[in-house]
Amino acid sequence: MRPVTLEWAGKSAALAPLTRPLVALEPVERAGRGDAPRGRLVQGDAIDVARALVAEGLGAKVDLVYLDPPFGSGVDYAHEERLDGAADGRVARARAYVDTWGGGPADYLDMLYPRLAAVAPLLAPTGSVWVHLDWRASYLVRALCDEIFGRERFLNEIVWRRAPNLGRQARSGQFGRTLDTLLVYGGPNARLVPPTRRTEVPASGARVDAEGRSFTLAPRGDYTDASVARLDAEGRIHRTASGRVYVKYWVDRDADGRLWKAQPVDTLWTDVPPLRHASPEERTGYPTQKPRALLERIVAAASPPGGLVVDLFAGSGTTGAAAWALGRRFVLADVGDVAIAAARARLLRDGVDDLSIERCGRSPASCPGVSATARRAHDGSVEVLVHASADHEPIAWSVGLRRGPGGCVEVLAHHERGTGRSPAPLALRSVVAAGAERTLALRVLHVDGTVAELDVSVRAATTARSAARAGAA
Ligand SMILES: C[S@@+](CC[C@H](N)C(=O)[O-])C[C@H]1O[C@@H](n2cnc3c(N)ncnc32)[C@H](O)[C@@H]1O
Repeated sequence: MRPVTLEWAGKSAALAPLTRPLVALEPVERAGRGDAPRGRLVQGDAIDVARALVAEGLGAKVDLVYLDPPFGSGVDYAHEERLDGAADGRVARARAYVDTWGGGPADYLDMLYPRLAAVAPLLAPTGSVWVHLDWRASYLVRALCDEIFGRERFLNEIVWRRAPNLGRQARSGQFGRTLDTLLVYGGPNARLVPPTRRTEVPASGARVDAEGRSFTLAPRGDYTDASVARLDAEGRIHRTASGRVYVKYWVDRDADGRLWKAQPVDTLWTDVPPLRHASPEERTGYPTQKPRALLERIVAAASPPGGLVVDLFAGSGTTGAAAWALGRRFVLADVGDVAIAAARARLLRDGVDDLSIERCGRSPASCPGVSATARRAHDGSVEVLVHASADHEPIAWSVGLRRGPGGCVEVLAHHERGTGRSPAPLALRSVVAAGAERTLALRVLHVDGTVAELDVSVRAATTARSAARAGAA
């Protein structure tokens, strides 16, 4: 076969980042105790993280790679965090990420090409990679994926209806652009497990056989004679008086007597509602956040229970939330400060209690002006108070023990701002069991992704005599 490849000016130089020095993965914060965390959130460029994961031994070990990169939309995206919840409450805004490409599609492809190439070695022979795009770049990226993963490894092009055809879209003088595209490529032994979808069957469309089972009929279509013989043996063939062959499809009846049948989901996904229909608690305010239901479908179809899921353009961490809910392990990465702060808060809020926060060559900007106090009580517990400036409120913080100078913080307690219509405010006080530790480490995160890292001395319990002295003074 003669190869078909996509060319653009400068393509050959685009893979140069794959040969730059490897960047190490460094743990920054650890919630949970086990040796191998079930969830990892890494700040770093997708290229560096993919290469570091391969160097760590995860080559050919990943069941599902989901990538939701910038789409080439030409937009500067802002994250919006509701601080009070009410519709007219305060909203904190921060620049989340930039999706503008001065040099047009060539610049965009220069970004995506080496990153797709970097993730390819991670894929297990039974694994698959899903690339989420829309009309702007999907037609180009499919050709690129053929080149990187192999045209023969193409499994599906899934169309997800992400929005109803309303408003400006519907009156644009074109058909509304309401679809996203998911390109799916698999390893040599990949098998996806599509879920089934319940479809109601009108009572008039069903028949009942002699044993009382309801069924619908469909022409034999492309069933071979051998398949028809097999279906006949299962009692699933119906012959008309004229000898025409129809296949029976069993129909179930629910408690209300309604008839329905389970049909495998195909590549047209119109039944996963857009994020705006998700619960207010699910919406993080991160731009271009995808609905968790979409990622749950992908994770369930493309990875086994306990399997490993990787997303290197993680944004608000939807893939991690879905993977955790379905009992998979995950590695998420994003280059942006705002994304890491949003994803970290979301995962911990969702109850991910075995999480490692790491960096791979990128650290968040630091934030001055945050202070804290820690005081030991008579029962040995330590009360920690965070003092933050009113015009730069944190969204989350943790307190723990630093392992080694400048090292990873082993988390004793963490707090996150809530989401939803009336989000729980961030607690700025914590009581922790810190043994005899004299210093505690705090990480305080803000909406704009900045982080204050503090080492706080634990002050001794105030004795009755010293309290009285303090009162007299
Ligand atoms: C479309 S958003 C992902 C949204 C995510 N799926 C969610 O549900 O929240 C794309 C993300 O890619 C990140 N990104 C852009 N360039 C990157 C790079 N080179 N490496 C890693 N992440 C990158 C951006 O910071 C942004 O968060």
